Amino acid sequence: MTEQRKILVTSALPYANGSIHLGHMVETIQTDIWVRYQKMCGHNCIYVCADDAHGTAIMLRAEQMGISAEQQIAKVSAEHQADFNDFMIDFDNYHSTHSPENHELSSLIYQRLKANGHIAVRSVTQAFDPEKQLFLADRYVKGTCPKCKAADQYGDNCEACGATYSPMELINPVSAHSGATPVAKDSDHFFFTLPAFTDFLKEWTRAGHLQDEVANKLSEWLDSGLQEWDISRDAPYFGFEIPGEPGKYFYVWLDAPIGYMASFKNLCDRTDGLEFDDYWSKKSSAELYHFIGKDIINFHALFWPAMLNDADFRTPTKVCVHGFLTVDGKKMSKSRGTFINARTYLEHLDPEYLRYYYATKLTNSVDDLDLNLEDFVTKVNSDLVGKVVNIASRTAKFVANSGGELSSTVANPELWQLFTEKNAVIAEHYENREFSKAMREIMGLADAANEYIAEQAPWKLAKEEGKEQLVLDVCTMGVNCFMALMTYLKPVLPATAARAEAFLNLTLDWNTPRSFLGKHSLNAFKPLLTRVEGKQVDAMIEASKDEMPTTTSAAVEATKEASSDSWLSKEPIAAEINFDDFAKVDLRIALIANAEHVEGANKLLRLTLDLGGETRNVFAGIKSAYAPEDLIGKLTVMVANLQPRKMKFGMSEGMVLAAGPGKNELYILEPGAGAQPGMRVM
Ligand code: MSP
Ligand code: ZN
Repeated sequence: MTEQRKILVTSALPYANGSIHLGHMVETIQTDIWVRYQKMCGHNCIYVCADDAHGTAIMLRAEQMGISAEQQIAKVSAEHQADFNDFMIDFDNYHSTHSPENHELSSLIYQRLKANGHIAVRSVTQAFDPEKQLFLADRYVKGTCPKCKAADQYGDNCEACGATYSPMELINPVSAHSGATPVAKDSDHFFFTLPAFTDFLKEWTRAGHLQDEVANKLSEWLDSGLQEWDISRDAPYFGFEIPGEPGKYFYVWLDAPIGYMASFKNLCDRTDGLEFDDYWSKKSSAELYHFIGKDIINFHALFWPAMLNDADFRTPTKVCVHGFLTVDGKKMSKSRGTFINARTYLEHLDPEYLRYYYATKLTNSVDDLDLNLEDFVTKVNSDLVGKVVNIASRTAKFVANSGGELSSTVANPELWQLFTEKNAVIAEHYENREFSKAMREIMGLADAANEYIAEQAPWKLAKEEGKEQLVLDVCTMGVNCFMALMTYLKPVLPATAARAEAFLNLTLDWNTPRSFLGKHSLNAFKPLLTRVEGKQVDAMIEASKDEMPTTTSAAVEATKEASSDSWLSKEPIAAEINFDDFAKVDLRIALIANAEHVEGANKLLRLTLDLGGETRNVFAGIKSAYAPEDLIGKLTVMVANLQPRKMKFGMSEGMVLAAGPGKNELYILEPGAGAQPGMRVM
């Protein structure tokens, strides 16, 4: 066996202001497969992650929810960890950047950079919200483009004409937080003097730590000259105060990567024999791998190695960059139902299906990868159920019939040799993050095994006189092939592998397929994996669609655009309207004459509303809060003059009004006694 490697592995730290979606899962599944492979080989591989908890967005989100930032990040951390856990992401530690370890390490690193003369102070003029007393990042200022006069443009560039400008150049700029007119205000900012590291980075980016395509991209930046990096933000900010600089905070991206170290430090502090310095000192012989998406390359391949090097820590062995997820060839989209949260997926489908599907798509390039929903169903069923599991289910019962013990005869030595020989090739593909190549090799082996079993047809032999030993030999061959396949798939399919181990009565490690299982007793065979049904996928897509417009008011709809949740507990009050605007809305008392479930819809009920003679068909997203029978006969309030809207299940002719703080808590509006269907609400 090769020498035991010490490897520390990370995935990028997800922001604590949103849910985990299938895009994030590309990264954690990729990392987890790699880590599980290393562990199976007997290496000492440690996988840490954390929530990225700091920044203005999180602070404002908490404010909007009416809770403290600490409460907000605790709630999201619990959700994130449950999602990852259910996808079988096997972190050795999951921490937070808002932690004492991170505070200490961030301060230490900053002080070392400063002592080395690599922190500069300069005054910066920025847009400032005088009402909220808050400096505004460019995207929080909106106004009319100074060039083409397009309305409602962000503070850095115009989506209509492409012009770039500073936020104060907008015509009639407004703060997205308060609607107040921002003023220009000066403040001292702290900068990390990145240009001082140009030579170091030119060398580092070409020293085998990066994919070639990534190094090439970075060359362009390195050649055109690096800028100093602004690492401070003014109060109020949710983060760590800069040592010795009251009112100044570390910018979230300064302490985020240090969060990798902090999570590991936290693990060391409660693990005997695990030493922080063994992994992070300049003399460390351990390997350090960061898995990240292509949008955050500059932070990991420029700022981070420069900071680490300057602060006397080791730099990463490899920064492994992956591409972005598309669904059916397009960017994930809420209206198409392809912006799929991890939790929504888990409510409909087995996590191993996605782990396998991603594995068939993952390479070591930064190309985007596509989740094609039809292909997903086909591949899972034909590869996993049809090819792999099938081998065990076609042979197990014959072994059981002859007493449950395998024979010592290798019935087809060439076939078995192929299975052992491939061990090295598949290992190499895993090591190089060429999972799609590994899956192709494995499925090639599965095809060979199935061909052998089909030729031998043990089910026919079993009916012939005196062929008992041959049946057992053939099935022993089949079971050994299955053992090897499940070994090779174990990093991808940990749960199915565990079921296979129970059946095979052994633990699969990377070297298990090097020896043939002779005279070995098996346990009872139990189903390993079920087929995926297209309708499960349809239900997941349906559940991911934004169905809420039928019940939320236009004002709520407008403010929730920017958030990833459908409902917030505390919506800001929408912009003022005059009486004429209000009078355009024809609100009527309606009798709920009928209410019923809609086949295939997760959130919607179909309501038949009686307006005192006229009836309307309305789809309302209130299924989580009401059973149809509880609604029938009730009076409620509806918008009667809303333009009919074509929905997947039919035409919706109006909407009912409901209030509520969250998904499962919704209350329809009911009028007081005496109200009659059709009455106008004023
Ligand atoms: N908080 C930062 C990372 C700090 S690391 C010190 C961040 N968070 S994130 O939640 O936006 O993204 C986390 C990771 O998920 C990133 O590596 C990002 O590239 C990846 N992905 C987010 N959306 C993705 C897709 N749609 N597809 C593939 N990966 C994507 O960035
Ligand atoms: Zn413009």
